[in-house]
Amino acid sequence: MDKLVIRGGVPLHGTIRVGGAKNAALPCMAACLLTEDELLLDQVPDVRDLQTTRRLLETMGVETDAGSGRARHRMALKARNITNPEAAYDLVKTMRASTLVLGPLLARTGQARVSLPGGCAIGARPINLHLLGLEKLGARLRQEHGYVIAETDRLRGNHYVFDRITVTGTEDVLMAAVLAEGETVLENCALEPEVVDLAELLIKMGAKIEGAGTPTLRIQGVARLHGASHRIIPDRIEAGTFILAGLITGGQLTVTGLNPLHLRALLDRLQEAGADLRVGADAVETHPSPRLRGLDITTAEYPGFATDLQAQYMALMTRAEGTAVITETIFENRFMHALEMVRMGADIKIEGNRAIVRGPAPLTGAAVLASDLRASASLVLSGLAAEGETIIDRIYHIDRGYERIEDKLRAVGGVIRRIGNLIPQPASAAASL
Ligand code: EPU
Repeated sequence: MDKLVIRGGVPLHGTIRVGGAKNAALPCMAACLLTEDELLLDQVPDVRDLQTTRRLLETMGVETDAGSGRARHRMALKARNITNPEAAYDLVKTMRASTLVLGPLLARTGQARVSLPGGCAIGARPINLHLLGLEKLGARLRQEHGYVIAETDRLRGNHYVFDRITVTGTEDVLMAAVLAEGETVLENCALEPEVVDLAELLIKMGAKIEGAGTPTLRIQGVARLHGASHRIIPDRIEAGTFILAGLITGGQLTVTGLNPLHLRALLDRLQEAGADLRVGADAVETHPSPRLRGLDITTAEYPGFATDLQAQYMALMTRAEGTAVITETIFENRFMHALEMVRMGADIKIEGNRAIVRGPAPLTGAAVLASDLRASASLVLSGLAAEGETIIDRIYHIDRGYERIEDKLRAVGGVIRRIGNLIPQPASAAASL
């Protein structure tokens, strides 16, 4: 199992570029199932979850082709024939977003057999709202041997109100509705930029969708969709992680290739907390911010403060003057990183869904354990700020969503390297996102 070894206390300097958004590329890749024509995607990050998605699509009969070298972020997907409309447990258990194939499979072939994901390191994460939405469109569902089996003669448009906001739920039901007969109105939809990116791709493929980026999506079903090419939006979570890395090390770091509009909640909170940031059209520059003070945040659906940046923000708050109360409202168990940060010297108390961070704490390097993707990123940030050496174990989590993070950080002065050992990673050890 690989580990990351970090020698902290070195300010990051220079320019770091973000890649395409993993959480936008995932549904966009699944959208290939909606057409027999070719889909060409650009700015697809080379991360493990997308390699898993590619494998999953191939098991269904999709022909895929990814570039190499400089072209490695391009991918062609062609679902001429769907020979096996099934997402098997072996893949779903390593990546719960595999359930995103349910809606498009059902819409295109009238049938799908998708393994139910189990629990996850950060919470229970059911998919009941995806299933209710698909039932509203006329799917007949039953559960057997840990699988959802869905069938329909033809999906029909309907009106469905999500009981709570769900990102992949909105994407799943949207992909079903674009090929349903007649009009579908979806209310209380997720507003995340990744949902809007998927809607834009679907529109390029011939779908009729109004209201992307608002709580109400209005879809006129069409009989068929065609191929398209699409560039995935920049990864706002990777961008936010690097901005926080610049600040936590007191460096002068330019994070480029991002869309600052997608990062408004983070940038506003950071500036309120006293961070010295220069925000450009597609870049954010961090400067040493000695007067950084503790500032409370509460995670929320977009455009609120992203739960996927909560752990990394907590790392920064351990270094700020005063108290910050961090309230997590999206997932019920997303504070595992806090306990590891405490082992590095942070003063953090957990009370239910609130973490009370008192700073500044002098962090010292330690051996720590990563529990999920964003927790791993927060431990990398803590390690970059800590005195001495930090060794992060179970680092395979980070490869699911960050492309070569250690190379990117090393290029801006981070003292970080990957070491491997000979103990193979058990497949069941990979928690799913
Ligand atoms: N929920 C339900 N029923 C459902 C669906 C969701 O109760 O049918 C609950 C969840 O348990 C959770 C809340 O609703 O408490 C919101 O979950 P959501 O469905 O929005 O999360 P998701 O779609 O499974 C995506 C991202 C996550 C990100 C969340 C929240 C992808 C592939 N994943 O997950 O990304 O944290 O939205 O923004 O888009 C990550 O990249 O590290 C990651 C975990």
